[in-house]
Amino acid sequence: MASWTTGSADLVAEWGLDPAVDYLNHGSFGATPRSVLAVQTALREEMEREPVHFLGRELPARLDAVRARLSTFLNADAAGLVLVPNATHGVQAALESLDWREGDEVVRCDHGYNAVRRALVRLEHRHGVRQVAAVLPFPIQRPEQVVEAFAAAFSPRTRLVIVDHVTSATALVLPVAQLVDLARSRGVAVLVDGAHAPGLLPLTISELAPDFYTGNLHKWVCAPKGAAFLWVHPDWRQRAHPTVTSHGYELGLAAEFEWTGTFDPTAWLAVPAALDRLEALGLDDVRASNHALVQEGRQRLAHALGVDLPHPDDPTWYGPMAAVQVPWATPADGPLLTARMYGEHRIEVPFTSYDHRSFVRISGQLYNRPEQYVRLADLLRSWR
Ligand SMILES: Cc1ncc(COP(=O)(O)O)c(C=O)c1O
Repeated sequence: MASWTTGSADLVAEWGLDPAVDYLNHGSFGATPRSVLAVQTALREEMEREPVHFLGRELPARLDAVRARLSTFLNADAAGLVLVPNATHGVQAALESLDWREGDEVVRCDHGYNAVRRALVRLEHRHGVRQVAAVLPFPIQRPEQVVEAFAAAFSPRTRLVIVDHVTSATALVLPVAQLVDLARSRGVAVLVDGAHAPGLLPLTISELAPDFYTGNLHKWVCAPKGAAFLWVHPDWRQRAHPTVTSHGYELGLAAEFEWTGTFDPTAWLAVPAALDRLEALGLDDVRASNHALVQEGRQRLAHALGVDLPHPDDPTWYGPMAAVQVPWATPADGPLLTARMYGEHRIEVPFTSYDHRSFVRISGQLYNRPEQYVRLADLLRSWR
């Protein structure tokens, strides 16, 4: 039993969020507790007292320590782990590391993230690589349906499969272990886009052993913005490169990735502070509490909107985020609905979309309370 209550005054005060806003969108950019930001501020002050000493002499050893801590948290061997600014960089570095030939195909999920789809369009322009969508049935009932959808999208030309560990628009947790097995059985490389997964799910990356795994630490680990990682399988460690080349080219993963020119590394250095806070609260308790908020919230929303839930009510399918279809909205309405909820009602919640369908996606974090989802559901009922 956790020693705290979600949404209690003490927990709310740990974040500096605007009290006038019902903030139901932790998923987009995360939100960082004040205590972690204080650690980052202290690090910045230290850096600015003697920038050459901090960046030029001390940084590599400090980053080694961050990587070591992260390696335990992610169950990912530190030799394959590098810090990157965000999952977008991680995905791009993996894409750049393959030696593409015209006509190669990349399989990705139809719920996939727009920026990744755009990166694949660029790959098409540069190398003639084609992207092929695995079309998931949605509503969905069984993990095997996901595997079947991916298998159906493979062809002899498939070189890479991109698996969203947690989908963005629909907040669905995909069965990554089965999808990695599928890719292996077809001799295809696999990149897991785990933008939302760290903190949200327990991870055992070395055991999963995809070719590449990237994940954000600024979302559900609550680190400062600009903190993410890429893990590279031993088979790729000599061939993986960041998108920007600097002094460390061909000097090993850490040297290449972790200095791509002058930057502020304090978000990375504050990651252990974020992990300390989550671990002190109890990661299992945090996950269970956030899931319970969203579980109740999505039921209320589905009832208010008069729709069925898109997947079983089982934690293997979703964590502290869930999406419910908005049957009367189109994807084009999304930005307007998001703006109206915020502008008129001070509720920060995204209206997402994929495949001509519109969804409202809720997040649950320690600063949230059940009443906030009731308020959202009541408004949506009145908008029907
Ligand atoms: C599935 C997925 N991939 C990639 C990203 C990109 O994350 P970032 O903007 O931190 O690079 C997101 C962001 O929400 C995402 O949901």
